[in-house]
Amino acid sequence: MNDTSNIPVLTIDGPSGVGKGTAAVRIARLRNWHYLDSGALYRALAVAARQQHVTVGDGAAIAEVASQLSIACELNEMGDGCTIFLNSEDVTAQVRTESVAAEASVIAASREARAALLLQQRAQCQWPGLVADGRDMGRMVFPQALLKIFLVADARIRAKRRYKQLKAKGFDGSLPDLVFALQQRDTRDTDRAASPLLPAGDAVVIDTSEMSIEAVVSDINRRLGNRLSN
Ligand code: C5P
Repeated sequence: MNDTSNIPVLTIDGPSGVGKGTAAVRIARLRNWHYLDSGALYRALAVAARQQHVTVGDGAAIAEVASQLSIACELNEMGDGCTIFLNSEDVTAQVRTESVAAEASVIAASREARAALLLQQRAQCQWPGLVADGRDMGRMVFPQALLKIFLVADARIRAKRRYKQLKAKGFDGSLPDLVFALQQRDTRDTDRAASPLLPAGDAVVIDTSEMSIEAVVSDINRRLGNRLSN
Protein backbone atom coordinates (compact mmCIF):
# COMPACT_ATOMS: atom_id res chain seq x y z
CA MET A 1 0.00 0.00 0.00
CA ASN A 2 1.21 3.55 -0.78
CA ASP A 3 2.45 5.56 2.16
CA THR A 4 0.35 8.71 2.27
CA SER A 5 1.49 9.87 5.70
CA ASN A 6 3.68 12.69 4.30
CA ILE A 7 1.00 14.18 2.06
CA PRO A 8 -0.15 17.50 3.56
CA VAL A 9 -3.82 17.54 4.53
CA LEU A 10 -5.93 20.50 5.62
CA THR A 11 -9.21 19.53 7.28
CA ILE A 12 -12.11 21.97 7.65
CA ASP A 13 -14.98 20.68 9.79
CA GLY A 14 -18.12 22.24 11.22
CA PRO A 15 -21.91 22.38 10.89
CA SER A 16 -23.83 23.49 7.81
CA GLY A 17 -23.58 27.16 6.81
CA VAL A 18 -20.27 28.01 8.48
CA GLY A 19 -18.59 28.56 5.10
CA LYS A 20 -16.44 25.44 5.16
CA GLY A 21 -17.30 24.25 1.64
CA THR A 22 -16.61 27.63 0.03
CA ALA A 23 -13.41 28.11 2.03
CA ALA A 24 -12.20 24.57 1.26
CA VAL A 25 -12.78 24.94 -2.50
CA ARG A 26 -11.02 28.31 -2.61
CA ILE A 27 -7.98 27.07 -0.71
CA ALA A 28 -7.77 23.91 -2.83
CA ARG A 29 -7.73 26.11 -5.94
CA LEU A 30 -5.21 28.57 -4.51
CA ARG A 31 -2.84 25.73 -3.63
CA ASN A 32 -3.71 23.48 -6.57
CA TRP A 33 -4.51 20.71 -4.10
CA HIS A 34 -7.16 18.00 -4.30
CA TYR A 35 -10.52 18.64 -2.68
CA LEU A 36 -12.77 16.21 -0.81
CA ASP A 37 -16.38 17.25 -0.15
CA SER A 38 -17.17 14.41 2.25
CA GLY A 39 -20.77 15.62 2.73
CA ALA A 40 -21.28 15.00 -1.00
CA LEU A 41 -20.41 11.32 -0.44
CA TYR A 42 -23.10 10.97 2.23
CA ARG A 43 -25.55 12.87 0.03
CA ALA A 44 -24.73 10.77 -3.05
CA LEU A 45 -25.24 7.66 -0.95
CA ALA A 46 -28.68 9.00 0.03
CA VAL A 47 -29.51 9.48 -3.67
CA ALA A 48 -28.37 5.92 -4.43
CA ALA A 49 -30.48 4.59 -1.55
CA ARG A 50 -33.51 6.40 -2.99
CA GLN A 51 -32.86 4.98 -6.44
CA GLN A 52 -32.58 1.46 -4.99
CA HIS A 53 -35.52 1.88 -2.56
CA VAL A 54 -33.32 1.16 0.46
CA THR A 55 -34.45 2.60 3.81
CA VAL A 56 -31.96 5.22 5.03
CA GLY A 57 -32.20 3.98 8.62
CA ASP A 58 -31.05 0.44 7.71
CA GLY A 59 -27.27 0.74 8.26
CA ALA A 60 -26.35 -2.73 6.99
CA ALA A 61 -28.33 -2.31 3.76
CA ILE A 62 -26.89 1.18 3.26
CA ALA A 63 -23.34 -0.13 3.75
CA GLU A 64 -24.06 -2.74 1.10
CA VAL A 65 -25.24 0.00 -1.30
CA ALA A 66 -22.07 2.01 -0.49
CA SER A 67 -19.77 -0.93 -1.19
CA GLN A 68 -21.06 -1.14 -4.76
CA LEU A 69 -20.92 2.56 -5.57
CA SER A 70 -18.43 4.66 -7.35
CA ILE A 71 -18.76 8.28 -6.26
CA ALA A 72 -16.58 10.99 -7.77
CA CYS A 73 -16.43 14.66 -6.92
CA GLU A 74 -14.67 16.99 -9.36
CA LEU A 75 -14.04 20.71 -8.85
CA ASN A 76 -16.32 22.53 -11.29
CA GLU A 77 -15.24 25.08 -13.89
CA MET A 78 -16.86 28.01 -12.07
CA GLY A 79 -14.60 27.21 -9.14
CA ASP A 80 -17.42 27.39 -6.58
CA GLY A 81 -17.97 23.72 -5.78
CA CYS A 82 -17.84 20.31 -7.31
CA THR A 83 -19.75 18.19 -9.76
CA ILE A 84 -20.80 14.89 -8.22
CA PHE A 85 -20.99 11.67 -10.18
CA LEU A 86 -22.71 8.53 -8.98
CA ASN A 87 -21.56 5.61 -11.13
CA SER A 88 -20.81 8.22 -13.88
CA GLU A 89 -24.28 9.86 -13.64
CA ASP A 90 -24.14 13.59 -12.79
CA VAL A 91 -26.26 13.90 -9.61
CA THR A 92 -25.09 17.38 -8.53
CA ALA A 93 -28.55 19.01 -8.59
CA GLN A 94 -30.30 16.17 -6.71
CA VAL A 95 -27.54 15.98 -4.13
CA ARG A 96 -27.91 19.66 -3.16
CA THR A 97 -31.56 19.52 -2.03
CA GLU A 98 -32.47 19.83 1.65
CA SER A 99 -34.45 16.58 1.60
CA VAL A 100 -31.34 14.68 0.45
CA ALA A 101 -29.31 16.50 3.14
CA ALA A 102 -31.76 15.29 5.80
CA GLU A 103 -31.55 11.69 4.52
CA ALA A 104 -27.75 11.94 4.39
CA SER A 105 -27.67 12.90 8.06
CA VAL A 106 -29.80 9.85 8.96
CA ILE A 107 -27.41 7.63 6.97
CA ALA A 108 -24.44 9.36 8.61
CA ALA A 109 -25.57 8.24 12.07
CA SER A 110 -24.88 4.61 11.13
CA ARG A 111 -21.42 3.23 12.00
CA GLU A 112 -21.66 0.70 9.17
CA ALA A 113 -22.40 3.40 6.59
CA ARG A 114 -19.54 5.55 7.91
CA ALA A 115 -17.13 2.62 7.78
CA ALA A 116 -18.18 1.87 4.21
CA LEU A 117 -17.25 5.42 3.13
CA LEU A 118 -13.98 5.64 5.07
CA LEU A 119 -11.66 4.12 2.45
CA GLN A 120 -13.22 6.16 -0.37
CA GLN A 121 -12.44 9.30 1.63
CA ARG A 122 -8.87 8.29 2.51
CA ALA A 123 -8.18 7.40 -1.13
CA GLN A 124 -8.48 11.13 -1.95
CA CYS A 125 -5.29 11.84 -0.02
CA GLN A 126 -2.91 12.45 -2.93
CA TRP A 127 0.04 14.70 -3.77
CA PRO A 128 0.53 17.65 -3.77
CA GLY A 129 -2.04 17.87 -0.94
CA LEU A 130 -5.68 17.59 0.07
CA VAL A 131 -8.27 19.96 1.48
CA ALA A 132 -11.05 17.88 3.08
CA ASP A 133 -14.29 19.34 4.40
CA GLY A 134 -16.97 17.68 6.51
CA ARG A 135 -17.83 16.84 10.10
CA ASP A 136 -15.15 14.35 11.19
CA MET A 137 -12.26 14.96 8.81
CA GLY A 138 -9.84 16.00 11.56
CA ARG A 139 -10.97 13.60 14.28
CA MET A 140 -11.55 10.38 12.35
CA VAL A 141 -10.69 10.37 8.67
CA PHE A 142 -7.38 12.28 8.60
CA PRO A 143 -6.10 12.33 12.20
CA GLN A 144 -2.60 12.97 10.80
CA ALA A 145 -3.68 16.24 9.10
CA LEU A 146 -1.13 19.05 9.07
CA LEU A 147 -3.77 21.63 10.01
CA LYS A 148 -7.25 21.03 11.44
CA ILE A 149 -9.80 23.82 11.36
CA PHE A 150 -13.23 23.70 13.02
CA LEU A 151 -15.58 26.50 11.95
CA VAL A 152 -18.53 27.64 14.04
CA ALA A 153 -21.12 30.41 13.57
CA ASP A 154 -24.37 31.62 15.09
CA ALA A 155 -27.27 29.33 14.04
CA ARG A 156 -29.42 32.11 12.53
CA ILE A 157 -26.53 33.48 10.52
CA ARG A 158 -25.77 29.95 9.24
CA ALA A 159 -29.39 29.43 8.21
CA LYS A 160 -29.46 32.78 6.37
CA ARG A 161 -26.27 31.87 4.48
CA ARG A 162 -27.69 28.50 3.47
CA TYR A 163 -30.95 30.20 2.46
CA LYS A 164 -29.08 32.60 0.15
CA GLN A 165 -27.08 29.73 -1.36
CA LEU A 166 -30.16 27.59 -1.92
CA LYS A 167 -32.26 30.48 -3.29
CA ALA A 168 -29.57 31.10 -5.90
CA LYS A 169 -30.10 27.48 -6.97
CA GLY A 170 -33.89 27.79 -7.23
CA PHE A 171 -34.93 26.64 -3.73
CA ASP A 172 -38.48 27.80 -2.98
CA GLY A 173 -38.83 26.95 0.74
CA SER A 174 -39.11 29.52 3.56
CA LEU A 175 -36.40 30.72 5.95
CA PRO A 176 -38.21 29.43 9.10
CA ASP A 177 -38.51 25.96 7.50
CA LEU A 178 -34.81 26.01 6.70
CA VAL A 179 -33.91 27.10 10.25
CA PHE A 180 -35.95 24.16 11.56
CA ALA A 181 -34.37 21.67 9.13
CA LEU A 182 -30.85 22.87 9.95
CA GLN A 183 -31.50 22.61 13.71
CA GLN A 184 -32.75 19.05 13.29
CA ARG A 185 -29.72 18.11 11.20
CA ASP A 186 -27.31 19.78 13.68
CA THR A 187 -28.91 17.89 16.57
CA ARG A 188 -28.69 14.57 14.71
CA ASP A 189 -25.05 15.23 13.74
CA THR A 190 -24.02 16.37 17.24
CA ASP A 191 -25.90 13.81 19.32
CA ARG A 192 -25.07 10.67 17.36
CA ALA A 193 -22.77 8.05 18.90
CA ALA A 194 -20.80 7.41 15.69
CA SER A 195 -18.38 10.29 15.00
CA PRO A 196 -20.42 13.10 16.54
CA LEU A 197 -19.77 16.62 15.27
CA LEU A 198 -16.98 17.81 17.58
CA PRO A 199 -13.65 19.59 17.04
CA ALA A 200 -10.52 17.44 17.19
CA GLY A 201 -8.45 18.13 20.33
CA ASP A 202 -5.77 19.79 18.16
CA ALA A 203 -8.16 21.76 15.92
CA VAL A 204 -8.13 25.55 15.60
CA VAL A 205 -11.71 26.78 16.24
CA ILE A 206 -12.73 29.88 14.26
CA ASP A 207 -16.07 31.70 14.68
CA THR A 208 -17.09 32.95 11.22
CA SER A 209 -20.32 34.73 12.32
CA GLU A 210 -18.87 38.20 11.72
CA MET A 211 -16.30 37.29 9.06
CA SER A 212 -16.51 37.58 5.28
CA ILE A 213 -15.63 34.47 3.30
CA GLU A 214 -12.50 36.30 2.04
CA ALA A 215 -11.37 36.84 5.63
CA VAL A 216 -12.01 33.17 6.49
CA VAL A 217 -10.02 31.98 3.45
CA SER A 218 -7.12 34.30 4.13
CA ASP A 219 -6.96 33.34 7.83
CA ILE A 220 -6.93 29.59 7.10
CA ASN A 221 -4.53 29.94 4.18
CA ARG A 222 -2.09 31.95 6.31
CA ARG A 223 -2.17 29.32 9.05
CA LEU A 224 -1.62 26.60 6.46
CA GLY A 225 1.35 28.50 4.99
CA ASN A 226 2.87 28.72 8.49
CA ARG A 227 2.46 24.98 9.07
CA LEU A 228 3.91 24.12 5.67
CA SER A 229 7.02 26.19 6.29
CA ASN A 230 7.69 24.73 9.76
O1 C5P B 1 -21.76 18.94 4.61
P1 C5P B 1 -23.11 18.50 4.09
O2 C5P B 1 -24.21 19.42 4.48
O3 C5P B 1 -23.07 18.25 2.62
O4 C5P B 1 -23.37 17.08 4.79
C1 C5P B 1 -24.60 16.41 4.70
C2 C5P B 1 -24.73 15.48 5.91
O5 C5P B 1 -23.75 14.43 5.79
C3 C5P B 1 -24.43 16.14 7.26
O6 C5P B 1 -25.58 16.71 7.86
C4 C5P B 1 -23.88 14.99 8.08
O7 C5P B 1 -24.92 14.26 8.70
C5 C5P B 1 -23.24 14.08 7.07
N1 C5P B 1 -21.77 14.17 7.08
C6 C5P B 1 -21.10 13.48 8.06
N2 C5P B 1 -19.74 13.45 8.05
C7 C5P B 1 -19.06 14.14 7.13
C8 C5P B 1 -19.74 14.89 6.14
C9 C5P B 1 -21.12 14.91 6.16
O8 C5P B 1 -21.69 12.87 8.93
N3 C5P B 1 -17.74 14.08 7.14
